[in-house]
Amino acid sequence: MTTTPTTAYGNAFTAHMVLSTWTEQDGWGEPRLTPMGEIPMHPAMVGLHYGQVVFEGLKAFRGEDGALALFRPEENARRFRASARRLAMPELPDELFLRAVDDLVARDGHVLGDDGSHSLYLRPLMFASEPDLMLRPAREYTFLLIAFVTGGLFGDADAISVWVCHDQSRAMPGGTGDVKCAGNYAPTYLAQNQAAEHGCQQVVWLDSVERRWVEEAGAMSLFFVRGGPGDARVVTPELTGTVLPSVTRASLLELAADLGHPPVVERVSLEQWRKECESGEMTEAFSCGTAAVVTPIARVRDRGGDWVVGDGAPGPVTRALRSALLDLQRGRTPDTRGWMRPVALG
Ligand SMILES: Cc1ncc(COP(=O)(O)O)c(C=O)c1O
Repeated sequence: MTTTPTTAYGNAFTAHMVLSTWTEQDGWGEPRLTPMGEIPMHPAMVGLHYGQVVFEGLKAFRGEDGALALFRPEENARRFRASARRLAMPELPDELFLRAVDDLVARDGHVLGDDGSHSLYLRPLMFASEPDLMLRPAREYTFLLIAFVTGGLFGDADAISVWVCHDQSRAMPGGTGDVKCAGNYAPTYLAQNQAAEHGCQQVVWLDSVERRWVEEAGAMSLFFVRGGPGDARVVTPELTGTVLPSVTRASLLELAADLGHPPVVERVSLEQWRKECESGEMTEAFSCGTAAVVTPIARVRDRGGDWVVGDGAPGPVTRALRSALLDLQRGRTPDTRGWMRPVALG
């Protein structure tokens, strides 16, 4: 394990973590900031066997004035509770969630230097820690929060190619696609491998009933742009219960309206995507999320043939939305909606 921050994604952990436990008797304990390190684990821990595990992902940024701030952590706290509810786990009160992220950023936020391309990715996790192999919700849970530095935020993101998956599903009606549980992710690796074999960086997920409607791209939300910059309409699939209510998606819907592109939330079929790109009506597409920010989509590879989105280069609306989001997160534009939560270094 390394505790030396680098810009590698996913393993440049900071020096501390926050821990708390829940028991039937005492409820949630006060979150404790401790040195980053290994945690004791019983081999019969419920989370390990039956997947009672939920998590979140959010970021802290250093603004151009040097101050640190979290982006919309209240939304992640709310979604963390929704995920826990779905898996019959105890909900962590928002106040404890926010105190945990504040404490860790205050303690370890100094690892964010002046490099504006870096941010601090925070990973809250809750798992059933009771050692008992009965098939029922556990009676003991552990919350933990870790963080790592991630880089590569600025400049235009490289446009990606996406592979349409027809034979596997990410989510189903009545399932867990609209929450962030660990079990949603490993089943997507096989399709991700297939995408890579076809020279694509991400998988496009279709709805699992009609296999017709486009839902998400990998672990990211999807957006489309119809029309040119003057009359562009920004479109994203609706939250049908099989799509994760992404914080970035919700934020971009508001930022699109600010930029004069009234957003439309509607279902988009794979066939529409292809036909509208071929006719020129659809000019841009991009995926988005906390980790990916805004990533342009250049090309779609499907079993029936490939197509290019627009001219295959990041489009002006995609670039404008990406800049609007990054400018807000880095304190270059005023935070009129109170989305940034300032944290003072401890
Ligand atoms: C399945 C899925 N969709 C979309 C997203 C993007 O969500 P957010 O913008 O809240 O990071 C994520 C990442 O959390 C995800 O796992």
